[in-house]
Amino acid sequence: MTEQAVTEQAMTEPAVTGQARKPFLYVVVCAAGIAADVSKLITAAQERDWEVGVIATPVAMNGFFDTAAVAALTGRPIRSAWRTPADPRPFPPPDAVVAAPATFNTVNKWAAGIADTLALATLCEAYGLGVPIAVLPCVADALAAHPAYRDSLLRLRAMGVRFGEPYAGEAGEDGGRPDFGWERALDLLDR
Ligand SMILES: Cc1cc2nc3c(=O)[nH]c(=O)nc-3n(C[C@H](O)[C@H](O)[C@H](O)COP(=O)(O)O)c2cc1C
Repeated sequence: MTEQAVTEQAMTEPAVTGQARKPFLYVVVCAAGIAADVSKLITAAQERDWEVGVIATPVAMNGFFDTAAVAALTGRPIRSAWRTPADPRPFPPPDAVVAAPATFNTVNKWAAGIADTLALATLCEAYGLGVPIAVLPCVADALAAHPAYRDSLLRLRAMGVRFGEPYAGEAGEDGGRPDFGWERALDLLDR
């Protein structure tokens, strides 16, 4: 861990030495409607032998998913705000980071290097930590057409961030939404 790794994520507890632990996956959850199903990703990751810690944006914490159910599923509190210096470090360092669903807002702020939430700081820092990063965006086509978003994708891809196929989340003619394919994030990490 370098001195530059100054955000909360870099200040997580060190790995326990001499004791095997499962690889630890940070799942960053943004405020998209599809976040209601994020437990599918967590369950799939656990089945692939990841231990999971969830870091949600402040907006996502406000009704976008069942925070109590997700905390119970991971066995850890969901993180969204920075801890105080006196608080213990709740998560070990990440072995990989997934952002799913990733919003237009978070993708653009991340690419610009903005770290004004714990979720964004986690994403910004993951690059410097050198861990694999996978992203499943959920962005409507009308927003995805914005030049800033295209630039953000280019910049993040150039940093080695692995993106799933675009997903607009719009309902089809039958009123149903296409499958989000949560496991794509885990497949991207395996690449
Ligand atoms: C019900 C609802 C669903 C939303 N779904 C999306 C979405 O799928 N993708 C997206 O980029 N923004 C979506 N938004 C807008 C974001 O919540 C908004 O841009 C927010 O500022 C994103 O914050 P975050 O990136 O910090 O999570 C949705 C908003 C609401 C109220």
